[in-house]
Amino acid sequence: MTIQWFPGHMTKARRQIEEKLRLIDAAIELLDARLPQSSRNPMIDRILRGKPRLVLLNKCDLADPAVTEEWVAFFAGQGLAALPVDSQSGRGVKEILPRLKELLAERTAKRAEKGMRPGAVRALIVGIPNVGKSTLINRLAGRKVAATGDKPGITKGQQWIKAGGELELLDTPGVLWPKFEDPDVGMRLAITGAVKEEILPVEEVAFAAVRYMLAHYADALRERYALEMPPSGSFDSDAIVGVMEQIGKARGCLRSGGQVDLEKASLSVLRDLRSGKLGRVSLERPESVS
Ligand code: G4P
Repeated sequence: MTIQWFPGHMTKARRQIEEKLRLIDAAIELLDARLPQSSRNPMIDRILRGKPRLVLLNKCDLADPAVTEEWVAFFAGQGLAALPVDSQSGRGVKEILPRLKELLAERTAKRAEKGMRPGAVRALIVGIPNVGKSTLINRLAGRKVAATGDKPGITKGQQWIKAGGELELLDTPGVLWPKFEDPDVGMRLAITGAVKEEILPVEEVAFAAVRYMLAHYADALRERYALEMPPSGSFDSDAIVGVMEQIGKARGCLRSGGQVDLEKASLSVLRDLRSGKLGRVSLERPESVS
């Protein structure tokens, strides 16, 4: 789902999250482990207003594990607990509750002093579209939870989803926007498929992906498509077109005259990258954060 964000939508989204803050103990900020910076909302600190927060690096099954570790350390340096998870398979998801409890330990102790029982942790999941919010909610709930948008005209009470005895989630995740005024952010999101093809031409996206892969994961490209590589360091546009043509041939993306169909080749390489067939690839590293 791609949402067209306009200033009015952003204000509404922000207000909806701010209204929910008083209902929750902690926020779960969901990021894409392959691009934690680009999948982040630029105003998140202001929106969450110091609420205890757990950062989840979702889709960690697709990201480079060494780089994901660097991101965990990066967030720790900012005073944020971060945990890699794979909501699709469930890996790491069991760690979420203990981490939330750690975050809330001081508050729980104070309550205990007053004779109050800890109660279930109440949390809200927030993140940009396509980052995996629904998948995570379903995984935590252990069942498919119907998506219940905040539809105008329908008044409904706030629903809590029970995720075991000790965790409750607000049923409607907070949908945030990325920093899409930055063209590099838009391009990286497009490479993962979070920004749909209609918005950026697929060939442009594939070229950017192949350029990045040549610089950081050249072996994975070479192995999958049996590439003859351009000399290292000379990845100009011609070299990338040459690589795209080889990919097209390797994948049988040909027109009737035998010419490579670059659009098909582009779709093919992006599909491979997004589904993990090119291995575990991270598109951003903490040192690139400005
Ligand atoms: P959203 O609510 O934040 O918009 O995201 P949603 O859960 O709909 O997930 C978006 C896509 O990301 C889905 O794929 C989902 O399966 C996939 N996804 C979510 N978490 C993970 C994860 O940890 N690892 C991997 N590999 N994928 C994940 P889709 O192709 O749009 O749908 P479908 O193929 O699952 O039907």
